Amino acid sequence: MSLITSLTRMWLTRTTKPFTFKNEYDQILPFAECDSLGLYVHIPFCKSICNFCPYCKVLYSAESCDRYIDHLIQEIHFVGNQHKGRKKVTSLYFGGGTPALAAERIKEIIDALNEHFIITEGIGLELHPDNVNVEVLQKLKDAGVTKISIGIQSFCGKYQKILGRKSVDTVEMKSALSVVPFETVSMDFIFALPEQTFDDLRSDIDLAFSLGANHVAIYPFIDFTFTESHVAAMPKKEKRKLLDAITQYCIDKGYSRSSIWTFSSEQNADYSSMTRDYFLGFGCSATSLFKKQFKINTFDVESYCKRISRGDFATSLTIRFTKRQRMVYWLFWTAYSTRVRISDFEKFFEVPLKKMYGFEIWIAKRLGFIKEYDGIYEMTLKGAFYYHYYENFYTLSYIDKMWGIMRNEAFPEQIKL
Ligand SMILES: C[S@@+](CC[C@H](N)C(=O)[O-])C[C@H]1O[C@@H](n2cnc3c(N)ncnc32)[C@H](O)[C@@H]1O
Ligand code: SF4
Repeated sequence: MSLITSLTRMWLTRTTKPFTFKNEYDQILPFAECDSLGLYVHIPFCKSICNFCPYCKVLYSAESCDRYIDHLIQEIHFVGNQHKGRKKVTSLYFGGGTPALAAERIKEIIDALNEHFIITEGIGLELHPDNVNVEVLQKLKDAGVTKISIGIQSFCGKYQKILGRKSVDTVEMKSALSVVPFETVSMDFIFALPEQTFDDLRSDIDLAFSLGANHVAIYPFIDFTFTESHVAAMPKKEKRKLLDAITQYCIDKGYSRSSIWTFSSEQNADYSSMTRDYFLGFGCSATSLFKKQFKINTFDVESYCKRISRGDFATSLTIRFTKRQRMVYWLFWTAYSTRVRISDFEKFFEVPLKKMYGFEIWIAKRLGFIKEYDGIYEMTLKGAFYYHYYENFYTLSYIDKMWGIMRNEAFPEQIKL
């Protein structure tokens, strides 16, 4: 498995050099030069910890959450002050953990960001189903949140049990969502759970749209090595059948595929913090992507607060990209939206896509993974499955290794992937 990802990396980056992340960081962050910059804020608190979840999270207490947010606001001003005036940015996403647990203070965080940035494409925030009530939703809406994403995982008791999650109060959810509407209401599901059928998934999706969602994200279950989950992986053939069937179902219903895993029932419903050219992240484990580098904050809440208290960055690791590495990164995450616009690549890198990856594009077309129209390469159903399949390898070879280390070491010396 890691041999496939290593060979693919060497082929696409045209070098045997691995991706090397080092324990170093710049004192000035080059975000002023980034057009269409997105913002991300990580809030790592959860009321209980799910054993399958790989994200950076800790158990919630009002006191530790408050202390963390005080530091987060300091970090926002520290970074924001590096740029004179207010910089135009696209969207802001709050991820976690469960950021809705800090509903009382979301406005304060947004106000701090508004001092340095002008957010033009809305604000998204993640909730646990337990947070979906009129009081919390109204607080979020008053703070300026325009998109919400609720982690359902499954409405079906059998899978909630497998994942160690409680049942969802669908009556309260429907009523709260009708009282406090948002531009996007997204619901997250996990698929490829043991013995999960197309009918199980279809009823989850139908129920989501009937409760007030206008966007769903259907993530394949990933068995991270450092989590304690005992969920068995679904065999590849069955998984492909399930993914193809659910994709076809959503397409037949008229839902549009906004990324590999997401479908929306309304045109302006979107929820994606991944497919952005540049982003600036705040909080522990948050990442930032600039023209030539990618950096990651420490995963450790205590070390994060210490660094910020002493007026320093909480960066744990930085990778400085070669041009080809940056191209591969750009292509991988742009392809996540199932479409790559040729002119976007040329605008970003000032070189024709065909000149850099003409052979790979030819192979992808011959294998039926992509088709070309109007200056766009679009993934076929087959292409989307293999992207998913490769992303699984990538996640297990790269993200799993990196997060596995960063959970245990606040500031590792170096990580080579
Ligand atoms: C930060 S959580 C969402 C908000 C909230 N904390 C919750 O769990 O309801 C992000 C999402 O990642 C997905 N996720 C977590 N662990 C996963 C895994 N091992 N494989 C696939 N998806 C996973 C879940 O769908 C989850 O809703
Ligand atoms: S899935 Fe959500 S609630 Fe569960 S541990 Fe992860 S972030 Fe927390």
